[in-house]
Amino acid sequence: MTIRPIRKAVFPVAGLGTRFLPATKAMPKEMLPVNDRPLIQHVVEEAKEAGIEEFIFITGRHKELLEEHFDEHPELQSTLKARGKDSVLKKIEDLIMPAGALFLTRQPKPLGLGHAIWCASKLVGNEPFAVILPDVLVKTAKGEGCLKQMVDVYNETGGNLIAVEDVPREEVNKYGIVSPGAIRGKAIEVKGLVEKPEPEDAPSEMSVIGRYILQPEVFDHLSAFEKGAGGEIQLTDALDKLIKTQLFNAMRFNGKTHDSGSRLGFIQANMAYGLDDPEIGARVEQLILEYADQIKGQHNVAAAE
Ligand code: G1P
Repeated sequence: MTIRPIRKAVFPVAGLGTRFLPATKAMPKEMLPVNDRPLIQHVVEEAKEAGIEEFIFITGRHKELLEEHFDEHPELQSTLKARGKDSVLKKIEDLIMPAGALFLTRQPKPLGLGHAIWCASKLVGNEPFAVILPDVLVKTAKGEGCLKQMVDVYNETGGNLIAVEDVPREEVNKYGIVSPGAIRGKAIEVKGLVEKPEPEDAPSEMSVIGRYILQPEVFDHLSAFEKGAGGEIQLTDALDKLIKTQLFNAMRFNGKTHDSGSRLGFIQANMAYGLDDPEIGARVEQLILEYADQIKGQHNVAAAE
């Protein structure tokens, strides 16, 4: 069996960001910053670290800022250069996509994640590819991004591979959930997948986090445009069909997920990434401790009353 390399990654970024209104009325949710960079940059960097060469954004109306973010900005760059702001200039230059690396296509209607991925079928062509959901940030050790960890396993196993983590039983209805089979080294056989099951129906508590390595045959299943949970065309349903004919594994990873598409997860992500920042980390820690003291003080006053 030849294992074909993963060169392309698909980023579904057409979502309306309704969990974050009104902040996301005019601004794409993928442009919300966690520490010093927007969500989309975090996940593009994760993909670069995993060796991805082609970046495919599935966009929609009002998402132009996303392509601007990765393009040259001559006026800004020359101003930073003239002012000797070399370290910021380097950060800007590092994020600019080389010619021929960024591809964009639109999902005209919000028909579901499966439909969004199907929109990439022509751009992906007949080769395996990665899918990264930008809402979910996975904080890992430097150089050990979640997709990189997956590519390392995929290069041994081939087939399809998803990253998973356990969630509390009462929360399984927010995720794709795995029916797990045999464990083969780092890979866990996937026997079935179900999108957002009720807690009593879920085959396990093993949730799909939003990182996938997929074979192109997934497009055959997606092109049936069958509606699933929530009346949407679900990626999970197409994957459940793919399992019947192809090798399909799950893996656990080293790192912590942050659901940055939710307000609470976003605040938590900003604390986690801020604490780790070499420039401001120590001050962020001090701030958090100050808040914690204040809150404890208020609790003590309330308890004494
Ligand atoms: C999507 C997927 C789901 C996955 C989740 C991870 O759901 O459909 O299988 O578990 O992302 O965040 P969404 O969050 O878009 O409802």
